[in-house]
Order: sequence, then C-alpha cells, then structure tokens
Amino acid sequence: MSDRIVAGGGALRGEIKMPGDKSVSHRALIFGALADGSTEAIGLAPGADVRSTRAMLTALGAEIVGAGADASVTGRGLGGLISCKTILDSGNSGTTMRLMAGVLSGHPFMSRLSGDESLNRRPMERVAAPLRTLGATVDLSPTGTAPMTIRGGNLSGAEVRLTVPSAQVKSAVLLAGLHATGETTVIEPAATRDHTEKMLALFGVAVRRSGLSSTVAGGSRLKGTRIDVPGDPSSAAFWAVAAALAPGSELRIAGVMANPTRTGYLQVLERMGADIQRTPSVERAGEPCEDLIVRFRKLRGTDISASEVPGLVDEAPILALAAACASGPSRFRGLDELRHKESDRLAGISQLLNRFGAKTRVNGDDLLIEGGAALTGTEINSLGDHRLAMTGFVAGFLAQGETTVKDAGCAEISYPSFYEDFLARRIR
Ligand code: S3P
Repeated sequence: MSDRIVAGGGALRGEIKMPGDKSVSHRALIFGALADGSTEAIGLAPGADVRSTRAMLTALGAEIVGAGADASVTGRGLGGLISCKTILDSGNSGTTMRLMAGVLSGHPFMSRLSGDESLNRRPMERVAAPLRTLGATVDLSPTGTAPMTIRGGNLSGAEVRLTVPSAQVKSAVLLAGLHATGETTVIEPAATRDHTEKMLALFGVAVRRSGLSSTVAGGSRLKGTRIDVPGDPSSAAFWAVAAALAPGSELRIAGVMANPTRTGYLQVLERMGADIQRTPSVERAGEPCEDLIVRFRKLRGTDISASEVPGLVDEAPILALAAACASGPSRFRGLDELRHKESDRLAGISQLLNRFGAKTRVNGDDLLIEGGAALTGTEINSLGDHRLAMTGFVAGFLAQGETTVKDAGCAEISYPSFYEDFLARRIR
C-alpha cells in the first residue's frame, strides 16, 4: 500500500532496456511445465503476476529452479501435472487463472483456483463456458467469478466460437484442446495477441491458423526448448508516452517486442505526430523485436476505433494521458473490455486524468478527451491497479507541482523497478 510522491518537471534522457514481456513469460513457464524435457526461460518478466504462475506450477508438481529473471523448468509432459489439494492462488493475475483453467481442464482431478480481491471480481464465465463445451466441469460463484472449481479430464475436441476478444480465453481453449481427443478450433471475434499460437510452434506443436481461427490436435506433445523473452511493449508504452510529452526528452527504449498484435500503441502515437524512430533488433522467442528512440514533439488528438482496441488493450490508460496533453480532442471507442481489467480502467482513467485538471468523460463504451490540458499535481489513488499507478506517476512527472500516487506499490505486479528506473533517467 506504499505511496509515491513525484515532483513535476524535467525530461527523460538516456536508455532503458525493457523487462521481459509478461504474456510471453507466463506462457514460457506453463508450456515448459507441460513439455517433455526441460525448458530454459531467459529474461522473464520480473513482476508478481509471473511469480503467481510459477508458484502455481510448482504446487502442481513442476520443478522450476533459478533465481532472478532466468528459470529452468523440468516438464511433466502433457497431462502430467499432479493434483493439489489446497486452493491454487492466482494472486492478481488474470492470465494465470485463465490459462491454468485451460490446462487444469485437461487433467483428471479436481482443482480449485482463487485470486486476490480484484481478480475474484473479474468475469470468469467467458473462460468457463468454452471449457465446459470441451467436457470439463467448471463451477464459479453465483456472479460468474472465482473461486473456480474445475473437474477436468476426458475432454473432446470441439469448435469454439468466442464472443469476447480475449487472448487469455483463446489460450485456455487451445491448452485444453491439447489435452482433448480430436481437434479443437477456437474462433475469435477479433484478432488478439497470438503468443500462444507462436510459442506452441517453438515447442514443436503445430497450430493451424486461418484468419481468426486456430486449431490444435489433441495429444500433440510439447518438446522443451529455450525461450529468450523479448521486452514488454506494454511497459515500453509508459516510457514512449512520457518521452513524447516531456519537452527536451530523447530516450532510447531497447529490446521491445514488435509483435503486430501488440504494437497498436506505436501506431496511435505515430498518428498523433510522435517522433519515434523504430529500428528492428534480433528476433527473440520467434517474436520480432525493435529498439525505439522517442523524442519530444507536440502531439495532436486522435480517434481510436473499436477494432484497434484488442491491439492496445493494456496501453489505453497511458495513451489516454497522451491524448489529454495533445492538442485537440480525442475519442477512444469501444473500451468496454477495460471495465474488466485489474480495476474498472475505463472509469478509473477518466477520473484519474480529471484529477490532474484534464477534461475527459465516459460516454457509453467510449472515452472522450478534450485535449490541451495543462496538468496540475494532485493526489490520486491507483485503485490497486498497476497500470493506473504508473499512468498516474507519469502524469505527475508531466504536471506542475507535486503529485502523490496512493497505493503505488502495485506497480510490483508488472514492473517493480519502474519508479526507480524512471527517476534515474529524468533530468531537470
Ligand atoms: C493477456 C491478454 C489480455 C491482456 C492481459 C494479458 C495475455 O487480456 O489484457 O494483460 O497474456 O493473454 P484479455 O485477453 O483477457 O483481454
């Protein structure tokens, strides 16, 4: 529950290397635990979410050794996890809960999954329903949330059409499908991040992809491998926006994953007129990577369409800050999914920006931002949401005067060193 005080002013200079991507890190550990042989995961995301996945896999019998960002996973083979009598704790991590729900649906024992207060408020019917289609018994609370009880095993492949765009749900279905008989196809309503599909291929599993549909064959075995985790674009977005908005900034952001399902934030910033130099760097874990150089330049408002949202779903809060400071109005359309994140991020980001003197409002599922705000330091509450905490901190850096971010410690979920790294690159 620690607070952070940030004095406004200054510029960002120098270089920052991105920590490992959170989505790729969860998958490296989970797939490693399901594989035959061992997997080396290098440069894992440092936050608490990935530790939740690691602890859960260990509770289910996988051996994971290694301190810091590197881990070696001894796989138990497909369907080889062992039952855990106690409740499996997902902490704050939706990815842990949803992906592991898919995995555990394929195992012939009962599992119980729970999380912290925030996670236990988030919708789980979206993942439970397709897993039931494959034959798992999945029970939720009367409000469709965790705790979740899964009785898995005996799954039959199916064609599953998702109603919400969610990479977590898509991944859960594909992971369950590996444990089912026959083929499992998942069809998503809009393209979401495709790390599961790409990484399964690295583990030797063929995924047939066509448009919005992905198919796996039940019984396909994973072979342990080495995953060199690329830098997290969702973390890079905080730096890119801060450098774009702070006069005098010139910042190199190194080793960022450039998977096109994750780079929506850069397209939006470029459309707003940002000065961003993108240089491809070596591919890691089958993912394109790049170095960014971001220089201050005045931004203009933009319109984000609903179809763009899956490609920037985690970056919407920090992009909303960019829009608040840009000249002219912006409209972010179709942000309904933001209501189901670690907090209600749609209401949360609007309230946060307004505290700094910006003029924003929620209209249905859209966020309307007036633009041209001169931010004034204030006190904000992160609502326990890491991305709101970091957005509030960047807003405080850009504001006149001093800002207190209450409950800023939740940055620990995805980016524990963010505040220190930030202050180390700020010049006045
Ligand atoms: C993630 C998918 C997204 C994203 C989350 C990580 C993943 O959630 O918001 O931070 O690793 O698959 P949804 O797929 O539920 O939108």
